[in-house]
Amino acid sequence: MENLKVTLPGMVLQNPIMPASGTFGFGFDFVDYYDINILGSIMTKAITQHPRYGNAVPRIAEVTSGMLNAIGLQNLGVEEAVNAIFPRLPSIYRHKVIANVSGSTVEEYVAVIKALNKVDQIGAYEINISCPNIKEGGMAFSVDETMASYVTKACKAVSEKPIYVKLSPNVTDIVKIAKAVEAAGADAITLINTLLGMRIDVKTRKPVLNNIYGGLSGPAIKPVALKMVYQVYRNVSIPIIGMGGIMTKEDVVEFMMAGASAVAIGTGNLVDPMICHTIVHELESYISSLGFEKIEALVGVAHG
Ligand SMILES: Cc1cc2nc3c(=O)[nH]c(=O)nc-3n(C[C@H](O)[C@H](O)[C@H](O)COP(=O)(O)O)c2cc1C
Repeated sequence: MENLKVTLPGMVLQNPIMPASGTFGFGFDFVDYYDINILGSIMTKAITQHPRYGNAVPRIAEVTSGMLNAIGLQNLGVEEAVNAIFPRLPSIYRHKVIANVSGSTVEEYVAVIKALNKVDQIGAYEINISCPNIKEGGMAFSVDETMASYVTKACKAVSEKPIYVKLSPNVTDIVKIAKAVEAAGADAITLINTLLGMRIDVKTRKPVLNNIYGGLSGPAIKPVALKMVYQVYRNVSIPIIGMGGIMTKEDVVEFMMAGASAVAIGTGNLVDPMICHTIVHELESYISSLGFEKIEALVGVAHG
């Protein structure tokens, strides 16, 4: 796998394939399918300061070429993550992971990072800024340059590991936000989170999701995600982790050619739990068939 090696801030990955946050938990449910040690890294489920039960059901709906989710960041909270989940993780996965940090206030992000700093297996934090800021009327941190910059600076100030800031596609100008978080000290950018969407049940005449709106993911969003990776790559110099609708080795190569140094697969894991395994095993011979020996040579080639 030497030719598949990629380097991210603070981490060297044996290959660029990772499960995306919220679609793989911490990996425990996947060990019956395959040896998850073949993964480049794992982006964990969101970790918040306190346990969250998430939104009421229905909170998942299928749509053409994708799905909607309104899980609501259900997780056991940072204390349980530090004391009960991370101590068990080395028994199923020996590489560094990327911990997804979420919060409703800047203080919450800071508290989660401070608590996670002591976990050796965390190689970097993925800061999910798509969460609503309850002190600013519920507007997501990710839609405003000032708020995105403020939360990035606050996280960076207390973090003992690199900070990867995860951008939301639900903005007018993704480049503005990307530049703002880069200037605020982000070590890398991950994108994209889900696009907002909804469905209506024509029989009940009501929205399908209890939360009304949900996040759209899967192949339906791939062209949007790819465009945003391409745009951000042209305008920032920190590395990008690309995601949004990746289902095949060809999709991985497209994202890397657009400028992603590594990729994450989300919804794909829910459709086929073997998807990451399949792609990892196909990737080296596929890039070789395209004339590339080392995968890092793919990054950004679409920009000429
Ligand atoms: C069921 C589900 C749960 C998710 N939970 C999180 C989460 O906890 N934190 C986060 O940053 N993103 C979360 N996401 C977003 C994914 O990590 C990813 O950014 C998005 O789904 C796009 O990738 P995909 O099209 O491959 O699924 C979730 C997505 C899904 C489908």
